[in-house]
Amino acid sequence: MPRTPRIRKAPTARTARAVRTVAVAAAAALVARRALRHRIKASPLWPMPALETPVSGKGRDAQVTTTSRQLTVAERTEEAAGVVRLRLAGDGLPDWEPGAHIDLVLPSGAIRQYSLCGDPATPGSYTIATRLIEDGRGGSREVHERLHEGTAVEVRGPRNRFRLDECHAYVFLAGGIGITPILPMVRRAEREGVPWRLLYAGRSRASMPFLEEIEKLAAPGADRVTVVAEDEDGRPDLAALLAGAPPYAAVYCCGPEPLMDAVAALLPDAPEGLTLHTERFAPAAAPSPAPAADNVPFEVELHRTGRTVTVPAGTSILRAIRDQALPDLPYSCEQGFCGTCQQRVLAGEVAHRDELLTDAERDDSLLICVSRARDGGRLVLDL
Ligand code: FES
Repeated sequence: MPRTPRIRKAPTARTARAVRTVAVAAAAALVARRALRHRIKASPLWPMPALETPVSGKGRDAQVTTTSRQLTVAERTEEAAGVVRLRLAGDGLPDWEPGAHIDLVLPSGAIRQYSLCGDPATPGSYTIATRLIEDGRGGSREVHERLHEGTAVEVRGPRNRFRLDECHAYVFLAGGIGITPILPMVRRAEREGVPWRLLYAGRSRASMPFLEEIEKLAAPGADRVTVVAEDEDGRPDLAALLAGAPPYAAVYCCGPEPLMDAVAALLPDAPEGLTLHTERFAPAAAPSPAPAADNVPFEVELHRTGRTVTVPAGTSILRAIRDQALPDLPYSCEQGFCGTCQQRVLAGEVAHRDELLTDAERDDSLLICVSRARDGGRLVLDL
């Protein structure tokens, strides 16, 4: 059957108008997209700021945390003689695991680290406890004198450098306020049915926070908790505790430096395979002086800020960056043990001078309060 030939109609005026409108809209969208791309590239934040915790890659373990939140002191309790417990409340708080700590930005601007001692399963607040240190650097005095119910505080973190590894048995040792990271660990071990023992030492029972809860955790008749108040019982028998530890148990210790040093010294004579985990709130030793080759001026490029600063000999990277480019850059101890100043390195060779970072973390980050560029080379930081 012969086909009927198609007749192409001439476009009407209405169709021509529609085509023109679509073409103009497409051109406008193209121009807008180009303009937006140009503005993003011109922004000081280009390339996009790093994630708080990288989701992949070597930086994943470094956990360089800079996000801060405004929380409110929801509850303040005198936990023991000279110790206040604060519950800080806010919305959308990240989860945390036993051993984690937060950076608290005090009203003066000083930053201090406090272990979280509440229950990770309770959302919406973080709990910390602080002992007043009369001759300290002033942070604990600020907490005691200026943080009251209703006070707003800035908090960074949480971060965790004292993780509770999975193990078939735990031995916990806490001295005084060192109980704060240990307490959530004990609760976790108890909840999961993992055998544990705790030695908790302090100057006097009145000065030891959370004593009541800890004594309740010891099941009646079970010899799991040993409380040593030095004014009544003398020094704790650390050797006896470690001698009774199950082989290959994980030992977690937090407290004064002499306690942690004594435990480390006893470990070679303890049962086989014990692994010691400690958390320090002071450097184990003063950072060793930089070798002459590393104590020379060098340059640090701040990639996101688009500035380059010169670090003179004898001045830390932290000081140079704060003086020349970013006066609000956070820091706390300036001795390489708190981790507040950890930054990601994008290029350059680092002379690490801390005892905090793991080898994996050193692959792509540094503590800018103590570490320097190797041999006066140039560093590029993700700042
Ligand atoms: S400020 Fe504490 S490690 Fe640098």
